[in-house]
Amino acid sequence: MTPSPGSILIIDDEDIICEALEALLVGDGYRVSTAGTAAQGLERLAQGQYDAVLLDLMLPDRLGIEVLDDIRRMDDELPVVMITAYGTIESAVAATKQGAFYYFTKPFKNDEVLAVIRNAFERRQLVRENRELRNRLRAGTHRMDAIIGGSPKMKALFDLVARAAPSRTTVLIQGESGTGKELVAQAFHRHSARSDKAFITVNSGNLPPDLLESNLFGHVKGAFTGAVYPKKGLFELADKGTIFFDEIGNIPLETQAKLLRVIQEREFMRLGGVETIKVDVRIIAATNVDLRAVMEAGRFREDLFYRLNVIMVQLPPLRERKDDIPLLVHHFLDKYGEESRKPGLVLTPPALDRLLAYHWPGNVRELENVIERAVVLSSDRQIGPDLIPDHVSANPTFEVPDVVIPSDGIQFREVIIGHERRYIEAALEAAGGVQKKAAELLHIKPTTLNEMIKRYDILPRRPKGAAGLRPEDEPDSGVPIPVGEED
Ligand SMILES: Nc1ncnc2c1ncn2[C@@H]1O[C@H](COP(=O)(O)OP(=O)(O)OP(=O)(O)O)[C@@H](O)[C@H]1O
Ligand SMILES: [Mg+2]
Repeated sequence: MTPSPGSILIIDDEDIICEALEALLVGDGYRVSTAGTAAQGLERLAQGQYDAVLLDLMLPDRLGIEVLDDIRRMDDELPVVMITAYGTIESAVAATKQGAFYYFTKPFKNDEVLAVIRNAFERRQLVRENRELRNRLRAGTHRMDAIIGGSPKMKALFDLVARAAPSRTTVLIQGESGTGKELVAQAFHRHSARSDKAFITVNSGNLPPDLLESNLFGHVKGAFTGAVYPKKGLFELADKGTIFFDEIGNIPLETQAKLLRVIQEREFMRLGGVETIKVDVRIIAATNVDLRAVMEAGRFREDLFYRLNVIMVQLPPLRERKDDIPLLVHHFLDKYGEESRKPGLVLTPPALDRLLAYHWPGNVRELENVIERAVVLSSDRQIGPDLIPDHVSANPTFEVPDVVIPSDGIQFREVIIGHERRYIEAALEAAGGVQKKAAELLHIKPTTLNEMIKRYDILPRRPKGAAGLRPEDEPDSGVPIPVGEED
């Protein structure tokens, strides 16, 4: 690999070391200057442009570690490699804690020096890219509040929010899990004149209808057993503000009717009450299923669907806006780096490649978790592919196709078995018929795979040259089917 040409300053008082290093580095294409004392070295640095410094730990006029401090003050991103004699390794290690990039010992190995310099240059490049992305984030053109995104789809979204936020119009936000629906709902609120009033989230799922309704509308004293005191509902609490229905598709049909009334009349009654209460609320709803399909299946009221669907925001899944991944990564590196007191973290290009190749079924939330984990586990300022979880790296191109349930439903078990069969056959195919390898590809135990092959009566795929016998044609079909060689 030819290194990108760059300029290196060597600060060492031993001429012989300077000369040897200079010859080595010049031979590899770098421009090199040398200095014999700390004072001279710092002067050179102040005058010229350097991409890396090799710094002796023991200089005649000052300790290398102090010089390192001065260099850090001049340029926090300049990679500094310490040169040390065997006796002083401890101080060199201390220096790396103080921001030296690396150290090597005298007498040095040429390969080691070149490798360290190459890494240092790569890191400098990373830090530069990192800073550019950070600047973009800071400039605010690639974000709206806490929502990060520079892709055309996200910019269009920011535009829509900015234009539609000031009105009271109902908004329906659709998107897969983890795409940022709640963030977008909050942005609508924040960019409206209601921003100083309440933003109330209703988790529409899994509450029994009675409880959900008493939460929403409140109740009067004695409305039901246990209603000892009157209680205000969420609609009243959200008055003049915004009410956000998360997972609106889960709301029971009977409650949907009552919700429709509030949207149309802007009034309701507490449970057990006779007095109508007027409210001024903005309603935002979110769903991670296709609400139209739920409606067509008869589980969501058509009139409510059209009432909600005045402004519809479709949040793109992360795999459809992968150009946002670097930006999001930096955002989360900053966020979790700050929390863990690990400033200046960067992701190496191979690690980023893995993130870019993955299909992100859990969207931004999943990416955030992956970065948080990497930050917590990282022991130096670079995050490499080793800190990316296996499942992210494992199957870069694999994507589960979108699932559409027809209106007359499906035979769940048959469909699932059909899928299992197809994946097993595909894995056997990919493994050249070797069961053990196929089991590895599927991350299941070979015995489990073998059982499934038997259960589903899967035709063993023979290695080339062998005939594709069906199990029952096997001379001894009572024993496990010999699919390929079981090395
Ligand atoms: N564009 C984005 N920029 C920054 N963070 C984001 C973005 N999108 C999502 N997140 C983060 O991902 C996580 C999930 O976001 P959020 O809760 O808004 O998703 P959701 O679509 O409501 O998911 P679910 O359907 O599972 O409720 C949050 O921690 C949020 O901060
Ligand atoms: Mg949510």
